[in-house]
Amino acid sequence: MREIVVFGDPVLTQKTKTVTIFDADLTRLVAEMHQTMIKAHGVGLAAPQIGVAQAICIVDTTVGEDPDQLVIMINPQILESSGIQKDEEGCLSFPDITTVVERPEKVKIKAQNLAGAWFEKEAEGFLARAICHEIDHLNGVLMTDRVSKLKREIIKKKVVKRQKAGTWHT
Ligand code: NI
Repeated sequence: MREIVVFGDPVLTQKTKTVTIFDADLTRLVAEMHQTMIKAHGVGLAAPQIGVAQAICIVDTTVGEDPDQLVIMINPQILESSGIQKDEEGCLSFPDITTVVERPEKVKIKAQNLAGAWFEKEAEGFLARAICHEIDHLNGVLMTDRVSKLKREIIKKKVVKRQKAGTWHT
């Protein structure tokens, strides 16, 4: 199990490196990410959230209930997006904070799997939201970058308050 990095750590706002080696270490890292995500009751996790600045993210809207629903995305790119959805969103790097974020209703992505093979995937609704959120992480973009300046300031104030109180962690 890995520790989850919370907002304020510079690794979360860096652009990640492209993965070029598809080996047993990568498979192990992704398995650890999945276990860490499940333990934290999340629906997705990106490698920077465990302090690894590489373009790896996972989404599992069943939180580990159905292994077939795990989407592993290495070096993902959004190919197409359409429509708009607005809904409450959370992030394991922002414990106990949610905010309404606008996302595309539908997306089409391409990514590599654990063997390095490229695949395409289409998603809509909540799955599309989760995929966009995780891919954002790989570009150093956080949900706070997707809201108004006012909302961002409110969240930052909450974070500072909890940092001072020593309660800003997962
Ligand atoms: Ni997140």
